[in-house]
Amino acid sequence: MERSLILLKPDCIQRRLMGRVIARFEDKGLNIIAMKMMRVTPELAKKHYAEHVQKEWYPTLEGFITGGPIVAAVVEGLEAIRVVRDMLGATSGLKAAAGTIRGDFSSSRQMNLVHGSDGPDAAAREIALYFREDEICAGELTLRPWLRAADE
Ligand code: TYD
Ligand code: MG
Repeated sequence: MERSLILLKPDCIQRRLMGRVIARFEDKGLNIIAMKMMRVTPELAKKHYAEHVQKEWYPTLEGFITGGPIVAAVVEGLEAIRVVRDMLGATSGLKAAAGTIRGDFSSSRQMNLVHGSDGPDAAAREIALYFREDEICAGELTLRPWLRAADE
């Protein structure tokens, strides 16, 4: 089982797409094991996007991600990190395949609605930025036997 950090970015909240995006993750069979609405501060943005802080486009990214409330969540499932990334689609909504979240709902490179961790190290680091250990509600959901075989 893997965990991935999801952020529903400010455009997702403002455009009233929260429910539809969360429904996609639920429909896929991922377990949502933590969730909260919050504001990203400039300090948190710089930690979250540490690999991008030096880019010339970082200041506008920080303005966007701190510009309204977000919803942070932890999802858990088999290969959850790749599965979520596949569900998001390419970074730019203009390039993301139809059928992906960004491909279906975004026409922007920056306002691409949802963040998902891009690897196991990033997931562990990002989850720790947004959630304390006691905020994560892990535990098997009763539906599991109907989502995959016991040996998967
Ligand atoms: P990146 O890690 O490349 O994309 P992804 O979210 O798919 O892992 O970039 C992080 C975020 O930065 C991206 O979701 C949107 C924003 N961004 C810009 O604002 N301008 C840009 O030119 C790029 C490449 C990304
Ligand atoms: Mg990235």
